Amino acid sequence: MRYTTSTSMVSIDPKHPQPDLLQQAADVIQRDGLVAFPTETVYGLGANALREVAIERIFSAKERPYHDPIIVHIADMDNLHQLAINIPEQAWRLAHAFWPGALTLVLERAPQLPSLLAQGMPTVAVRMPVHPVARELIRYAQVPIAAPSANRFTRPSATSAQHVVEDLFNHVDLILDGGDATIGIESTVIDMTQNPPVILRPGGIPVERIHQVVSEVKWMLHNPKNDDPTPPKSPGMLSKHYSPRAEVLLFEGEASRVIEAMRHKSLELGQDHKSVGVLSTDEEAHFFLETGARVISMGSVNNLEQVAHVLFRAMRVLDNQHVEKILVRGYGKQGLGAAIWDRLVRSADGKIIYVE
Ligand code: TXA
Ligand code: MG
Repeated sequence: MRYTTSTSMVSIDPKHPQPDLLQQAADVIQRDGLVAFPTETVYGLGANALREVAIERIFSAKERPYHDPIIVHIADMDNLHQLAINIPEQAWRLAHAFWPGALTLVLERAPQLPSLLAQGMPTVAVRMPVHPVARELIRYAQVPIAAPSANRFTRPSATSAQHVVEDLFNHVDLILDGGDATIGIESTVIDMTQNPPVILRPGGIPVERIHQVVSEVKWMLHNPKNDDPTPPKSPGMLSKHYSPRAEVLLFEGEASRVIEAMRHKSLELGQDHKSVGVLSTDEEAHFFLETGARVISMGSVNNLEQVAHVLFRAMRVLDNQHVEKILVRGYGKQGLGAAIWDRLVRSADGKIIYVE
C-alpha cells in the first residue's frame, strides 16, 4: 500500500535557510517521516538513512521497486566513515575534488546500515550536496539522509516544489520549497568498488572533469546503436525512466537533417490529428512554429547548462498540456550533453530515430 500522510509545505530561503524551519524538518526526519527538499541537482525525497522503517516509506511513497537502490546524503566528510568501509584512495580524491557537489560515489557499505538501501548488494551510494538547505537539513537531523529524486517512479525528476506536489502530495510529510533546483539534472554516479571505476549514470559533473582526477574510468553511453548493446547496469536503472506521459520521439544525426526530419514528423502527426509537443532551442524553435506543434525553447543550443536546467520541467509542461507525442533531439555527448542524452534516451524508452 502507498504511504499516505497529510502534506505541509513551507517556503525556505535557499541561501540562508531559517533555523526554525530546518528544525521542523529535522524533527520529521527524526520521527521516521519524509521530507522533500531542494538540492542543486533535483529535489530529494528524504528519510533517516539509518532506519529501515523510514527507508521503506520512501519506496512506498514513490511506488518504487525495492531493487532500485537509494543514495545517502551527508553534510560533512567525517560522516562518510559511518556509511562506507574500505574506501579506496581514488574515491577520496574524487570526494575532495567534487564534494560538496553533483557526484555520487558507490562504495562498500558499512555493516550497520539498513540493507534496504541497496538490496542484494554490499554497497552504498553516497553524495554530499552543496545546496545550503540540503546540507543544513542533514546537520539539523544529525543523521545521514537517504533521498532518491522526489518524483513518482518513472516520472521526470522533480526540479521544483510544485513538481513534488504533482507527484507526491499526501505521500510526503513536509515539502521545503526552496525554489528551482539549479542544475536540473541528477548527479553523476560512479561505482568505486570496481577497478577501474565505472560511471553508472552521467550527470551534473561531466565525465571529462572526472577524468582530470581519475585517469582511468569505464563508461558506455546509453546508446542502443553501440556495438555493445548492454549499457552499464546499476540495478534498478531501467531504461524506462524520467518519462513524461506522452511518447517521446528522440531524433539523432546531423543537426540540420534532424531538424528537417522532426519538422516533417510534426506535420505528419498533425495531419493525423495528434497533439504534438517539440522540445527545442532558441535557434531552432522557429522551424516548428508552422507545424501546429506546441514548441518549448529550452534556451540557446550553445548553453547546455540552461537546457539541463529546464529539461525535466519542459517535459512536465508538455504533459500538463496533454500532448500525445514529444519530439526532441540530442545535443551531442560532450560535457552536460552526455547527461542530457542519457535522460532523453530513457524518456524515449531506448527508441531512437536515426536520421541519415
Ligand atoms: O542528484 C541526485 O543524485 C538526486 C539528488 C536527490 O541527490 N538523487 C537521485 O536519486 O537522483 P535516484 O534514486 O533518483 O537515483 C539514484 C541512482 C539510481 O540510478 C540508482 O540505481 C543508483 O543511483 N544507485 C543508488 N545506490 C546504488 C548502489 N548501491 N549501487 C549502484 N547504483 C546505485
Ligand atoms: Mg530518480
